[in-house]
Amino acid sequence: MSASASGASPALPVHVGIIMDGNGRWARARGKNRLAGHKQGAEVARNVVRWAKEFGIKQISLYAFSTENWERPKLEVRGLMNLLAILLPKTLPEMMQNEVRFRILGDLSPLPGSARKAVELACSNTANNTGIDLILCLNYGGQQEIIAAVKQTLQWVQTQSDPQQALTALNPEQFRNLMWRHNIAPLDLLIRTGGEMRISNFHLWDAAYAELYFSSVLWPDFSRKDLQVALDEYASRERRYGLTSEQLET
Ligand code: FPP
Repeated sequence: MSASASGASPALPVHVGIIMDGNGRWARARGKNRLAGHKQGAEVARNVVRWAKEFGIKQISLYAFSTENWERPKLEVRGLMNLLAILLPKTLPEMMQNEVRFRILGDLSPLPGSARKAVELACSNTANNTGIDLILCLNYGGQQEIIAAVKQTLQWVQTQSDPQQALTALNPEQFRNLMWRHNIAPLDLLIRTGGEMRISNFHLWDAAYAELYFSSVLWPDFSRKDLQVALDEYASRERRYGLTSEQLET
């Protein structure tokens, strides 16, 4: 079934995560600086949330800034943080209109105050919206998230009547409940634009069974049609979670 068809489809992902790669190359090809690419990328990010909602997706997570991105040139890091501080308040009316609930995955503490405040304001103002969750992954790293969950787990086992037994019996579901992502749906579809075929520390835990889709389109050129093609590809996949096709049929 085409993702362009209206109505709910069981083949529609609940949670789509996107690695928005290619801003720098898009800018360079136009003789512009990298920040111009990020600005155009932010426009596409705004649009992709609207398109995702139109397709019936309930959660979309966007990899806006990784834990490793702090090592980029200072000017670029500052530019990205400023972009966040300026664009978020401007986008707030549109988020309200489209019933977007703005959420964060990552550690906000090292962000400059202006960016952090803009994020916190967007989170609190949109907290009751139910149209679609936009989960901005900011200062996010999948390895860091897993380490944080290990620390949580060590604290949690101490609260159990038999800590050793609790640790021995720990299963993936319990562990996920202790992760930052405990209240986010499992990732169904991971899209990466820009032609690279890596996960780059994004959603590592849920990547275990997410469907991966790589597009050569640079993020600032990513269109509604490109999203539709990715969703159609997802709909054609068989998610077996380690089982066989025959088992799934029965
Ligand atoms: C990767 O492309 C992109 C990023 C590291 C940043 C993504 C940010 C946005 C789309 C803007 C919205 C986000 C904020 C924080 C306002 P790249 O720069 O690595 O591209 P390249 O591989 O072509 O150099």
